[in-house]
Amino acid sequence: MRESILSRVYHRSNRAHELTPEERAVYETLDAERLPQHVAIIMDGNGRWAGKRALKRFLGHQQGAESVQYVVETASRIDLPWLTLYAFSLENNLRRPRNEVGFLMKLLKSYLVSNVKRMNDNNIRMAYIGRTHELPQEVQDTMQWAAEQTCKNTGTTLTLALNYGSRSEIVDAARALLHNMIAEAHKRGISVEDMLAAEGVDDAIKSRIDEPQLNASLYTAHMPDPDLVIRTSGEQRISNFLLWQIAYAEIFVTDRLWPDFRGLHLIEAIADYQQRERRFGGLGESSDETFSDTLPTEAELARR
Ligand code: FPP
Repeated sequence: MRESILSRVYHRSNRAHELTPEERAVYETLDAERLPQHVAIIMDGNGRWAGKRALKRFLGHQQGAESVQYVVETASRIDLPWLTLYAFSLENNLRRPRNEVGFLMKLLKSYLVSNVKRMNDNNIRMAYIGRTHELPQEVQDTMQWAAEQTCKNTGTTLTLALNYGSRSEIVDAARALLHNMIAEAHKRGISVEDMLAAEGVDDAIKSRIDEPQLNASLYTAHMPDPDLVIRTSGEQRISNFLLWQIAYAEIFVTDRLWPDFRGLHLIEAIADYQQRERRFGGLGESSDETFSDTLPTEAELARR
């Protein structure tokens, strides 16, 4: 179900007093006026965390699921409206051994079943993005159940990206726009070709396919774009995550492995984010240089 950004009513909770003393110490250094609205996290390093302890990979994932709950609860205490976690990519689904995929699916189900009460206690709402219809039916059923159980909550929206790939999301959005065009022609009782020709093909396509309309066809249409992307375990890549939506996001990479990541580290990443100057392709506040209408001559350049 889609909703507009405006229809989402977020209720601030003022639960900072529930933070740990360490979290609170960093939280109190933040500028309350410049908190991010949306943080997205690429949770990486479960396997390495297990490997370092000579444990099996599945134990790394299990510990990673614990981190999810800690981080989500801190997010809700600091009134973060949107938290999106990259929990299972399309590529994970296609390229990981079947038994690891099966384990991740079981872990997801068990996470949802055992945490719905805590989510309700923390006013957290569950949502999902990705080709979730391709996941096993019993996993989809549990996901839907958890979303229904938490749908009235008005605090943090926790979105799990599951069977998610950003390129496939953009492909799905393009297909949706094409379907809309066909449905419009059908409704008007004419062919798509005649409908477009009547308005001039270029103009007709431009008016139906532009940035706002493509954006509105993404899985994330109802959310603001992420302000901050965090990636754990030190890899400096985006791995097909929210490529369209993070066009102007700040990126924070930490060497910490996901199973060691806690709410404190989320707040530290936000503190780092607040040191950045966001420019959205424009100029920073400190720039007041005036430009001349002409390029300098070679002689002028040589004199500098
Ligand atoms: C990367 O670890 C992480 C994943 C494959 C997905 C994230 C999954 C979890 C945090 C567990 C459960 C999540 C929920 C929501 C219950 P990796 O295996 O790629 O680590 P590596 O790069 O060190 O091998």
